[in-house]
Amino acid sequence: MSGINKSFSGVKALHDAEFTVRAGEIHALLGANGAGKSTLMKILSGAYEADEGSVRIEGRELALRSPADAKEAGIHCVYQEVDTSLVAQLSVAENIFLDRLATAKHRAWVKWGHLYEEAEKLIADLGLSVPVRKKAADLTLAEKQMVLIARVMANEAKVVVFDEPTAPLSIEETEQLFRIMDKLKSSGIGLVFISHRLHEVFQICDRATVMRDGRMILTEPTSAIDTSDIIQAMLGRSLDDEYPKREVPIGEVVLSAKDLALGSRVRGVDLEVRRGEIVAVVGLVGAGKTELSRLLFGADKADRGTVTIAGRRANLKAPASAVDSGIVLVPEERRKEGILVGESVLHNLSVPILGKLSSWGFLSGTREKDNAAGVIGKLGIKTSSSNQLTGFLSGGNQQKVAIGKWLNTNADVFVLDEPTKGVDIGAKRDIFSIIGELAEQGKGILYLTCEFTEALGLADRILVMCDGRIVKQFLRGDATQENLLYYASAGQEELA
Ligand SMILES: Nc1ncnc2c1ncn2[C@@H]1O[C@H](COP(=O)(O)OP(=O)(O)OP(=O)(O)O)[C@@H](O)[C@H]1O
Ligand SMILES: [Mg+2]
Repeated sequence: MSGINKSFSGVKALHDAEFTVRAGEIHALLGANGAGKSTLMKILSGAYEADEGSVRIEGRELALRSPADAKEAGIHCVYQEVDTSLVAQLSVAENIFLDRLATAKHRAWVKWGHLYEEAEKLIADLGLSVPVRKKAADLTLAEKQMVLIARVMANEAKVVVFDEPTAPLSIEETEQLFRIMDKLKSSGIGLVFISHRLHEVFQICDRATVMRDGRMILTEPTSAIDTSDIIQAMLGRSLDDEYPKREVPIGEVVLSAKDLALGSRVRGVDLEVRRGEIVAVVGLVGAGKTELSRLLFGADKADRGTVTIAGRRANLKAPASAVDSGIVLVPEERRKEGILVGESVLHNLSVPILGKLSSWGFLSGTREKDNAAGVIGKLGIKTSSSNQLTGFLSGGNQQKVAIGKWLNTNADVFVLDEPTKGVDIGAKRDIFSIIGELAEQGKGILYLTCEFTEALGLADRILVMCDGRIVKQFLRGDATQENLLYYASAGQEELA
């Protein structure tokens, strides 16, 4: 890709971007939230048209006007939102051969027996086991991703782009994905890998390119650079302490849950959070953390159990009554639950505090703007203006809106479910420091995460969750990465 320029309503997202991928390499594409990574890859895969610049594959210049043009040329993209790329009601095999079926003149001409056989072979070649007759709707997230990869294989790919594929995966699923990527690589395919987890980049990538504000800053073999070079190129500055932990006096109990339960996902959880205290709940993907957070917020109804906030029994009939009781949740699935993608950033940031921003029932435009400007500045949300539609922000900046909207509420308890997922390393530090500020104001923080290093860096107390139960508690300084993993995987040494 060379000389690529792209603007969105006058705001420049890419400046003369240059990018190359070699056959048989895994090339990391890195940069802070909003740097332009997804935009560049959307141009490569035909989803967006560049204003200027050229794309060549094997020396041949391409005219990319649609995703179909890109696929025709052998360029494929595995987006993070895998759900939108599969047809839920079709089988695994049909989804794999979707492009072929869509162009077949007559569905009756398709040899179904043959199709299933071919699909089975592809899945086996990848070293996977997904039943090819199963409906896409019944697959796990990781399986869906594997189906997308099998689809890519079915189409004789030359270049495959993975845009943040590992964010929702468990440790084992991630390892499996890496094995498959390695296979694709050794078959001569060029791979692009986007991730905010820098250790993954050093684990699997041959080269890395760092972008900042739509420009290419650096391209180097990963063996020639280290994490601090990447951070310096990404942010234009270094990052000294990743976890700015403040010393805050711990007060009385502000959140207390007793025997909370829902089916087999949450099996009788007791926990307490005190004012000024950051309590982390760690666990592997699927341990029940998200389900627990939803019970605390009234998003799901518990089978049994009670929740007390600031000494009063919380009303958890619905999220709105939970907010009135003094608890707020930053949910994991930001696009589905955390924000209104069809509304402006301004409006998203106002929704939880409409009362505060109004007088005599009228919403004050000035107060609304001041509130938005404050949050945007504080979190460094990258947006052309507060009137921009939230759906047009980069993934990480949408996450910041999902957190920012709760900052000026009077909540006593903040529940944050994987708040740093998809967020760049500089913004992560900003989020940690905001969490520290909230604690300093006497709020109680419950921080649910599968990133053990974050819990170790941030929390006063760590609760380990496994299979719907809290199985272990550590005080700050007592836990290590190893013993967290040991308890999170039900004491199975081999796994740890
Ligand atoms: N359809 C669109 N309309 C308007 N602006 C857009 C659109 N798509 C992207 N942008 C803007 O282009 C810039 C680059 O966004 P992009 O999604 O490429 O970032 P990114 O590097 O992928 O970030 P992240 O790590 O958060 O996913 C951002 O400022 C974003 O708001
Ligand atoms: Mg992106």
